[in-house]
Amino acid sequence: MSEQQQVRQPWVVGVSGASGTPYAASVVRALLAAGEAVDLVVSRAARLTILDETGISFRDAHWREDLARWIGVDDLDDVRYWPAGDFAAGPSSGSYPAKGMLVVPATTGAVAGIALGLSKDLLQRVASVTLKERRPLVVCVRETPLNGVTLQHLVALDAQGAVVLPASPGFYAGGSTVRELVDFVAGRVLDAVGVPHTLYRRWEGELGRAARAGAEGA
Ligand SMILES: Cc1cc2nc3c(=O)[nH]c(=O)nc-3n(C[C@H](O)[C@H](O)[C@H](O)COP(=O)(O)O)c2cc1C
Repeated sequence: MSEQQQVRQPWVVGVSGASGTPYAASVVRALLAAGEAVDLVVSRAARLTILDETGISFRDAHWREDLARWIGVDDLDDVRYWPAGDFAAGPSSGSYPAKGMLVVPATTGAVAGIALGLSKDLLQRVASVTLKERRPLVVCVRETPLNGVTLQHLVALDAQGAVVLPASPGFYAGGSTVRELVDFVAGRVLDAVGVPHTLYRRWEGELGRAARAGAEGA
């Protein structure tokens, strides 16, 4: 293998403080399962949602242990963790060889900060870097209903080249459990950046399969 092939090229996963931490867990699990490296950034507010939705107090100093509990994966050799206040972190520079960034879930605050280029923390800084380097950026926004200013920020993100991907599960894949609906959204996030996965069953042009899958599962 040449020296160039050995350069680690991670996806940065930014977890902001919106409800929907299972989406982030599913995305990280699927990236690792696909053999992708992951750089993880967890905003300060996301610690509250992780605590609320999983009971885990996510700690910078014990991130490996806390992440393993959260996503249910023990082998985290392909993960690097960067504290949200660390502006000297690798991915805060465009010269860091990241493939792109997935913000999952994205708060309306993160949407605003990224759209306006605020860089108020490492998550927003990496998103700005991702846009300026013309790398893929997926923003999985979680809020409902949406106010006018957030809608404007989402349009601005789209205009800047980001993929705006609402955390909005489809039911055509036959999902009848929360896990399946979560995995559907995570699968669409991975689809947006071309990472292979088997998180949900794809539409094949046949009406009625979702209902049949539900009946078989019942
Ligand atoms: C339990 C909990 C759930 C939240 N859910 C959402 C949400 O679904 N969407 C959202 O935009 N903000 C949500 N918030 C508010 C954000 O966490 C808050 O606006 C925060 O400033 C966002 O910071 P961040 O973008 O740096 O993570 C929630 C907060 C808490 C404590």
